[in-house]
Amino acid sequence: PTPIRINPSILAADFVNMQSELGRIASADLVHVDVMDNHFVPNLTFGPQMVERIQAVSPIPLDVHLMIDDPERWAPGYAELGAFSVTFHAEASADPVALARRLRGIGARAGLALKPGTAVEPYLELLGEFDQVLVMTVEPGFGGQSFMPSTMPKLLSLREEVARRGVDVWLQVDGGITAATIGMAAEAGADTFVAGSSVFSGDDPASNIDALRRAAQS
Ligand code: DX5
Ligand code: ZN
Repeated sequence: PTPIRINPSILAADFVNMQSELGRIASADLVHVDVMDNHFVPNLTFGPQMVERIQAVSPIPLDVHLMIDDPERWAPGYAELGAFSVTFHAEASADPVALARRLRGIGARAGLALKPGTAVEPYLELLGEFDQVLVMTVEPGFGGQSFMPSTMPKLLSLREEVARRGVDVWLQVDGGITAATIGMAAEAGADTFVAGSSVFSGDDPASNIDALRRAAQS
């Protein structure tokens, strides 16, 4: 079976107890870290100083999702502090290929994110330049929104192109992923699933992660 990854988003965690929140998601594959600048999206989280501390205390590698303007200026810093992957938005980048090459040069996996309204076609021929593509399944900015099935055709196109090229590019979805929606995304070709509210809701994130894994593979 295709390996699948569950990346809990700490946007839904308790920010003042981040270290213990990380302990509650020890069975995660990667920790998804949402950086927002209040310009690219209408919400603000944290920047490199916080991510550096999370990196220092997390036993699980970090999957950094930059919802920021001018990623050319800021993204390399996240790679330098040791993030496993750094994903920036196509809509915000002046030259996605050049930025991906810089990130890879520093030693991070390079990710390209697409908002729900952004077409995937222009990026299909550039697929080999990235280690992962993030198809946003909600408008970026906030947790707890509803999954948009209208984004699934992009995953189908990406999955087909990955197979055609024989490249190893992870296909990620982010937004509204629950045990009820994860199957649809898996079916369309996603292999990496970001989930915030559905992991941190209730008192047992570990069993929520298990439930997502089971639902993705069934
Ligand atoms: C939204 C963020 C997501 C968010 C997902 O803009 O990129 O990572 O945490 O939250 P849920 O899983 O609650 O939709
Ligand atoms: Zn995210």
